[in-house]
Amino acid sequence: MRLLSLALAGTLLACLAVGTAGGQEGPDYSREGADTCLSCHEDASTLAIFRTKHAVPSDPRGPFGHGQLQCEACHGPGGEHAGRVRRGQERPAIPYFHPAGTATVEEENGQCLGCHNSGVGFGWHAGEHPVDEVACADCHQMHIARDPVLQTATQPAVCFDCHQAQRTETRKAFAHPFSQGKMDCTGCHSPHGDQVATSLVRQTVNDTCQQCHAEQRGPYLWEHAPVSEDCTLCHSPHGSNHPGMLAKRAPLLCQSCHSQFGHPSIPYGPDELVTGTPSRFLLGQSCLNCHSQVHGSNHPSGSKLMR
Ligand code: HEC
Ligand code: HEC
Ligand code: HEC
Ligand code: HEC
Ligand code: HEC
Ligand code: HEC
Ligand code: HEC
Ligand code: HEC
Ligand code: HEC
Ligand code: HEC
Repeated sequence: MRLLSLALAGTLLACLAVGTAGGQEGPDYSREGADTCLSCHEDASTLAIFRTKHAVPSDPRGPFGHGQLQCEACHGPGGEHAGRVRRGQERPAIPYFHPAGTATVEEENGQCLGCHNSGVGFGWHAGEHPVDEVACADCHQMHIARDPVLQTATQPAVCFDCHQAQRTETRKAFAHPFSQGKMDCTGCHSPHGDQVATSLVRQTVNDTCQQCHAEQRGPYLWEHAPVSEDCTLCHSPHGSNHPGMLAKRAPLLCQSCHSQFGHPSIPYGPDELVTGTPSRFLLGQSCLNCHSQVHGSNHPSGSKLMR
C-alpha cells in the first residue's frame, strides 16, 4: 500500500515538473526553479550540490534533469518561501529540509524515496534502522562534493554520531583498522538494512567474516565446533583489548566452554608450589602453546588441534 502511494507520488511529481521547469508557475513552486533559489542562496556550501551526481543535467532521472523540479525536487514547493516578505514578517519555511520546517522524518525520507525506492531496496522497510526516526539526511549530505558516508575513511565518524558504544570498541588496542581509514562499517553491515540479524551483508556472521578472511573458512579435517558456528564466540568484531581481537584472553576464553578438569586452571597448583614454576598450561600463549590450530587442523593427527 505504502509502496503504491510512493509510486503515485512519483508520477505526480513528474507531471508537476513539466509545468514548472517549462517556466509556467506551478501551484506553490517558485517561478524560475533553481534560478529563483540561487538569487538568495549563492553561498559555496549550497552551490556544492552542482558538483554531485544529483546535478547532472543530462540525467533525466536526476533533480536537475530536463523537466525535473531542481532544488524543489527535494525541498518541496518553495513559492511561498521564495516570495516577497513584508518587513517584520517571518519568511515561511520551505517544506522539507529546513530547520524551521514541520515535516516529519518519514515525510522527508519520502522526498528521497520517490526516486530511490528501488535503489535503497525493501531492506529499508525491514531493516534495523527505525524508518520513521533515522533520516536519509542523518547519514547522507547533499550539498557536498564527496558525501562522507560514501567514503571508507570518513564513514565511521558518521555512524559514531549515534553509535557511541561502537566508537569506544573500535578505539581499543586491537581493532579492525577503522582509525587508519582502511575499513568501514559497510564491510560488514548493510546501512539500509536487510533481513539478516544486525543487518549483516551476508546471511551469517561467518559468511560475512570470510569475505575477507578466507583462510579461516576451512574445510578442515578436524574442525573446532565454535569456529564453524560463529566467529564472534571468540572474537569481538569491532575491537577488544586482547590480542587477536579476542573477547577474552586464554585460558579464560577456552575455559568458558571447556571444563577445567584434566587441564589445570590455576597457575600455582600443589605441584607448581613445590617446583616454584607456574603451570605450563597457563603461561605465555596458554592453551595455544599446544593447541595452536584453534581454527581447525588438516594434519592427520590434528584431532586435538595441536598441529
Ligand atoms: C528572497 C530570498 C530567498 C529565496 C528566493 C529563497 N530563499 Fe531560502 N532562505 C532565505 C532566507 C533569508 C533563509 C534563512 C531564514 C530562514 O531560515 O527562513 C532561507 C533559508 C532556506 C533554507 C534553510 C537554510 C538552513 O540554514 O538550513 C533552505 C533549505 C532554503 N532556504 C531553500 C531554498 C530553496 C530550495 C529556494 C528556491 C525554491 C529558496 N530557498 C529560495 C531566502 C530565500
Ligand atoms: C537531492 C536533494 C536536494 C536537492 C536537489 C537540493 N537540496 Fe538543499 N538540502 C538537501 C538536504 C537533505 C539538506 C539538509 C542538509 C544536508 O544534508 O546537506 C539541504 C540543505 C540545504 C540548505 C541549508 C544548508 C546548506 O547546506 O546550505 C540550503 C540553503 C539548501 N539546501 C538550498 C538548496 C538549493 C538552493 C538547491 C538547488 C540549487 C538545493 N538545496 C537542492 C537536499 C537537497
Ligand atoms: C528527482 C530524483 C531524485 C531525488 C528527489 C533524490 N535523488 Fe538521489 N540520486 C538521483 C539520481 C538520478 C542519482 C544518480 C544515480 C547514479 O548516477 O547512478 C542519485 C544519486 C544519489 C546518491 C549516490 C551519490 C553518489 O555519489 O554515488 C545518494 C547517496 C543519493 N542520491 C541520496 C539521495 C537522498 C538522501 C535524497 C533525498 C534528500 C535524494 N537522493 C533525492 C535521483 C534523485
Ligand atoms: C545509516 C546511514 C544511512 C542511512 C540512514 C541511509 N543511507 Fe544511503 N547509504 C549509506 C551508506 C554507508 C552507503 C554506501 C553503501 C555501500 O558502500 O555499500 C549508502 C548508499 C546509498 C546510495 C547509493 C547506492 C549505490 O549503490 O550507489 C543511495 C542512492 C542511498 N544510499 C540513498 C539513501 C536514501 C534514499 C536513504 C533514506 C531512505 C538512505 N540512503 C539512508 C548510509 C545510509
Ligand atoms: C541518526 C542516528 C544514527 C546514525 C547516524 C546511524 N545509526 Fe545505526 N541505528 C540507529 C538507531 C536508533 C538504531 C536502532 C536502535 C539500536 O539498536 O541502537 C540503529 C541500529 C543499527 C544497527 C543494528 C543494531 C541492532 O541492534 O540490530 C546497526 C548494525 C547499525 N545501526 C549500523 C549503523 C551504521 C553502519 C551506520 C553508519 C553508516 C549507522 N548505523 C548510523 C541510529 C543511527
Ligand atoms: C568485521 C565486521 C564488522 C564491522 C566492520 C562492523 N561491525 Fe558492527 N557488528 C558486527 C557483528 C558480527 C555484530 C553482531 C555481533 C555483536 O553484537 O557483537 C555487530 C553489531 C553491531 C551493532 C549492534 C550492537 C548491539 O549490541 O546490538 C551496531 C550498532 C554496530 N554493529 C555498528 C557498527 C558500526 C557503527 C560500525 C563501523 C564503525 C561497525 N558496526 C562495523 C560486525 C561488524
Ligand atoms: C572487509 C574486509 C573484512 C571483513 C569483512 C572482516 N575483516 Fe577482519 N580484518 C580485516 C583487515 C583489513 C584486518 C587487519 C589485517 C592486518 O592488519 O594485517 C583484519 C583483522 C582481523 C583480526 C586480527 C588479526 C590480527 O592479526 O590480530 C581478526 C581476529 C579479525 N579480523 C576477525 C574478523 C571477524 C571475526 C570478522 C567477521 C565478524 C572479520 N574479521 C571481518 C578485514 C576484514
Ligand atoms: C574458539 C575460539 C575462536 C573462534 C570461534 C574463532 N577464532 Fe579466530 N582466533 C582465535 C585465537 C585464539 C586466535 C589467536 C589470537 C592471537 O594472535 O593471540 C585467533 C586469530 C584469528 C585471526 C588472526 C590471524 C591468525 O590466524 O592468527 C583471524 C584473522 C581470525 N582469528 C579470524 C577468525 C574468523 C574469520 C573466525 C570465524 C570463521 C574465527 N577467527 C573464529 C580463536 C578463535
Ligand atoms: C564457544 C565454546 C568454545 C570455546 C570458546 C572454545 N572451544 Fe574448544 N571446543 C568446543 C566444542 C563444542 C568442541 C567439540 C567438542 C567435542 O566434539 O566433543 C571443542 C573442541 C576442542 C578441542 C578438541 C577436543 C577433542 O576431544 O577432540 C580442543 C583441543 C579445543 N576445543 C581447544 C580449545 C581451545 C584451546 C580454546 C581456546 C582458544 C577453545 N577450545 C575454545 C567449544 C569451544
Ligand atoms: C602443554 C601442552 C598443553 C597445554 C598448554 C594445554 N593442553 Fe589441552 N591437551 C594437551 C594434550 C597433549 C591433549 C591430548 C590428551 C589426549 O589425547 O588424551 C589435550 C587435550 C585437550 C582437550 C581434549 C579433551 C581432553 O581433555 O582430552 C581439550 C578440550 C583441551 N586439551 C583443552 C585445553 C585448554 C582449554 C587448555 C588451556 C587451559 C589446554 N588444553 C592447554 C596438551 C595441552
